[in-house]
Amino acid sequence: MTEAVTVHVPLGARAYDVRIGAGLLERAGAEIAPLLARPRVAVVTDASVADLHLAPLQAALAAEGIASEVLVLPAGEGTKSWPHLQNCVEWLLEQQVERRDIVLALGGGVIGDLVGFAAAILRRGVRFVQLPTTLLAQVDSSVGGKTGINSTRGKNLIGAFHQPSLVLADIAVLDTLSPRDFLAGYGEVAKYGLLGDAEFFGWLEAHGPRLREDRRLRQQAVAHSVAMKAAIVTRDETEQGERALLNLGHTFGHALEAATGYSDRLLHGEGVAIGCALAFDLSARMGLCPQEAPSRVLAHLRQMNMPARLSEIPGQLPDDRDLIALMGQDKKVVDGQLRFVLARGIGEAFVSDAVEQDVLEAVLRDAR
Ligand code: GLY
Repeated sequence: MTEAVTVHVPLGARAYDVRIGAGLLERAGAEIAPLLARPRVAVVTDASVADLHLAPLQAALAAEGIASEVLVLPAGEGTKSWPHLQNCVEWLLEQQVERRDIVLALGGGVIGDLVGFAAAILRRGVRFVQLPTTLLAQVDSSVGGKTGINSTRGKNLIGAFHQPSLVLADIAVLDTLSPRDFLAGYGEVAKYGLLGDAEFFGWLEAHGPRLREDRRLRQQAVAHSVAMKAAIVTRDETEQGERALLNLGHTFGHALEAATGYSDRLLHGEGVAIGCALAFDLSARMGLCPQEAPSRVLAHLRQMNMPARLSEIPGQLPDDRDLIALMGQDKKVVDGQLRFVLARGIGEAFVSDAVEQDVLEAVLRDAR
């Protein structure tokens, strides 16, 4: 059993702690009790997570005398949609969840985003606690208050900033992830090194392959990623500037996810990993960073057995122009102009709208 680490997110009246450690789900009752005005919570989860983690959570709550009602939604990206949002909000109202109550989101990024958004709009805002059960959710989506659902026109286009009151990242639950899901989350971990911390990227090159087996290393990686995200979110909560750096790899990644129908042909974190490789390739071709940087990114993704090239995505992809058109739905687009997170080197990312179409097309063509 490792001692939990706390990363504080100092957002004034919206400040909260992110607790990171093994066994936090079994201690959830004690961790959450100080936040409660009355001893009851509403839990929203998905069917796959419920099978694995709901019973220990409910036992931990009951051990502290906290009653829990549970809504189990279908697993999968399709749940981040209007019908399931309506279902969730109506269920919370049926449970008579009041403003002083707490809603618990137990699951990966889909559940965290959906439940956070439901909490943001329920009675104009109730508090919620994130219990992220995937590596991706622990290092990224559960922290920082971005909540929302997908539109038929694109991912995460409907939503609100609504900070959680607490995040409990139990790194032991990551033992239950498939190797593919674990690695997909790792794409977001590597992103932190690439965008702003070359030393951390070097640490990942040395230790990344052992994170799945070694909980101590895993805790360090999650805590470091969360601390980096907390610092950025604290400086730029609503993404007026610096927070956009967290989207390194995402302009490419979101377009690839759309092109593959948000299916298991490409998981979000895999799209981010390939997107990071493409962003560094683009940066080198534009003369912004030395060729050594994209080569290192590619070598690390290969070392981790992660997809790094478009040719590693199964099935047909749209042609380059159609992929670039899909990038046009990105939330960073300003006045119709695509904006990319590029890099001057490992750990030195910045936002640019000065990317020329023919260079972009060459990057995509050569990655096939
Ligand atoms: N996932 C990017 C952000 O939270 O800003």
